[in-house]
Amino acid sequence: MAYTDNYERDTYGIIAFWLRNDYDHGRFFDREISHYETELARANLNNIQRLGKVWEKAEKKQGDIGTLLIEAQHATSEFHSLLAYTMDKSLHCDVIIATPVSLIDHMVRESEESSRVYKLIESGTKISPSDAIIHECVFWLRQMADHLGYILHYSDVSNYDVNFQVMQMMQKFERLYLQAVALQTMIRTPRKETLPILTQFKNVIIKEAKSLEAFKLEIDELIKTCAIATTSPPDLLEHIAREAHHLWRNLEEDRIT
Ligand SMILES: [Fe+2]
Ligand SMILES: [Fe+2]
Repeated sequence: MAYTDNYERDTYGIIAFWLRNDYDHGRFFDREISHYETELARANLNNIQRLGKVWEKAEKKQGDIGTLLIEAQHATSEFHSLLAYTMDKSLHCDVIIATPVSLIDHMVRESEESSRVYKLIESGTKISPSDAIIHECVFWLRQMADHLGYILHYSDVSNYDVNFQVMQMMQKFERLYLQAVALQTMIRTPRKETLPILTQFKNVIIKEAKSLEAFKLEIDELIKTCAIATTSPPDLLEHIAREAHHLWRNLEEDRIT
């Protein structure tokens, strides 16, 4: 589990997590842009380079947090614009890419979440444990269900049994997502205390996210050793396992940033 060894959770580490996330998205997207779309490919490559440079600074803990946050915000918002623009073109059937619209939307939402996190760090806003749990669950459970959908998207049709298992897991995470949305509206703001119903839900999600992380790492091993038929980018599973890891770690610590 290479990523857990060098995944730091101090402020630099959290900024690095999000920058790396966008950087990976750019690299994954790069594989799926048709050679007819030279302008898009070039713009995306520029974003990858820029995000990569800022990510490196965060990894090496170079410079002060304030400057790093400004650079991270700029690089992220530029990448966000490119993705949102391409998503709109895709909805108009006006771009040749192999990336499904929902997957672009998934990346757009993560880039928006990264901006929110940068702003929270910058302002030093304190979030109550209940608000943090609800936010993390509502945001990430949809992403977790999506991840299973994208494993299916890339997995060869001939993997009948694996695909069936993945579909079942996806449906479980869709139900958990709906439960998170229900708790979000049932437990009204301001949320000063953490109700037992929320603590119970949190504990279930920590357990489910841990087993999802392990499952993704099992598939990761198969993909990296070329032991399963798939068109997935080689390090996609490691990327989404890292996100499951981030979710349960945040839940264990009742935090967003
Ligand atoms: Fe991601
Ligand atoms: Fe994701």
